[in-house]
Formats: sequence, structure tokens, C-alpha cells
Amino acid sequence: MMNKGRFITMEGVDGSGKTTQLQLTARYLLQCGYDLVTTREPGGTKMAERIRSLVLDADVSINARTEVLLYLAARAEHVATVIKPALEAGKIVLCDRFADSTLVYQGFVRGILPETVASLCDFAAEGITPELTIMLDAAPEALLQRRADRGVKDRFEQEGLDFQKKVRAGFLMLASKEPERIKRVNALQNVDAVQADIRNVLKNAGF
Ligand code: TYD
Repeated sequence: MMNKGRFITMEGVDGSGKTTQLQLTARYLLQCGYDLVTTREPGGTKMAERIRSLVLDADVSINARTEVLLYLAARAEHVATVIKPALEAGKIVLCDRFADSTLVYQGFVRGILPETVASLCDFAAEGITPELTIMLDAAPEALLQRRADRGVKDRFEQEGLDFQKKVRAGFLMLASKEPERIKRVNALQNVDAVQADIRNVLKNAGF
């Protein structure tokens, strides 16, 4: 399939400031005049948002295989009804998390075989992959300190430091395997400095 549009994803450890940076990045791309669709995973459609509330509900325990299938059920719907049509219409799609999160969280952390996760991801996304991935990176210890200073308490702390360290290691491993696509940005800077680095990455990628 020929994609006329361009697909960008943003990834990173929990608590890296990804949501803020995604909004600022969307604003920047709109200012540049691009026809932009901003969306997120899991989610992006009514059906996929329902799966999101299920998989992110701390009161619902989910087996690892079920979990990967739920994330990918959400993705299949999202790709088919939002991402693929937007790319075919020549738009820029900016998505908060995508297959790299599945490879890291369900593969690297939860222990599902990487080849299995990769082929399920490929099936769910109809082979669609981002051309550019911005990875907000920081040591979880430093993020934890930063959040404690601000009095923030959320899932980041519930899951624990070892979990977050593993997530980070997974993202760094992916970034080292695909340096052309995955661009690491230091998330331990102030908001403006992080955004400036992201804009540089975008400029270097021709945006
Ligand atoms: P997100 O809303 O990005 O959380 P935050 O911005 O607070 O870090 O993502 C929700 C969670 O879903 C996040 O902990 C990562 C997880 N996730 C997976 O485990 N697998 C996936 O395939 C995706 C897309 C997300």
C-alpha cells in the first residue's frame, strides 16, 4: 500500500512528560501548516477507548496473552478506522505510543516472545509502521524524584522503580537497533528545552 501521508509516533517511560510534549508538538506541526491528525494508543476510536479503560483499570487483572491481544485489538481498530485512512488522505499522523510500546511492555517486560509480539503487531497494524519515533528518555530514578518534588502520585509509582527501569531498558534497546527511525530526546530538561530538541528532530526528518 502506498502511504501519501507521514506517520510519527511518540514513546517513552511513564512520567516522562510525553503528554505535554505531544500537545506542543501537535501545535508546532499545525503552525507549520500540516494537515495533522493527533491520536493515542490504546485508544483513538470509541471502541479502542473502551479497551483502554479496561486494560488500564488497576482493579482488573489480565493475563499477559490476553493483555497483548487487547492492546492489539484496540490497535487494529484504530489503524483501520483512523490511522490508515488519514495516511491515505496524505495527512500527518502523530500518535501517542504505538508498536514500540507493545514490544517493550508486553514483550520485554511481560515476557512474550519478541517475534510473537512483532508479528502480532504487524498483523494488527496491517504492516503500517511509523517513519519517525520520538522517544522521551530519562532515568526512572530521576523522574521519580522530580515527581516527588511536585507532589505527583500516580500509576508511575504504583508499578515501582524496577518495572520502570525495565521499560526504559527496553526502549533504549529498540532505539539502538533502529537509530534511523527512533530518535532519543532527553526528557530531564525543562519543557521548552525538550520541545526544542523535538523540533530539531522533526526538522532533520524534513518537517
Ligand atoms: P499512556 O496513556 O501513554 O500513559 P502515560 O502517558 O501516562 O505514560 O499509556 C498507557 C499505558 O499503556 C502505558 O503504561 C503503556 C501501556 N501500553 C502497553 O503496555 N502496550 C501498548 O501497546 C501500548 C500502546 C501502551
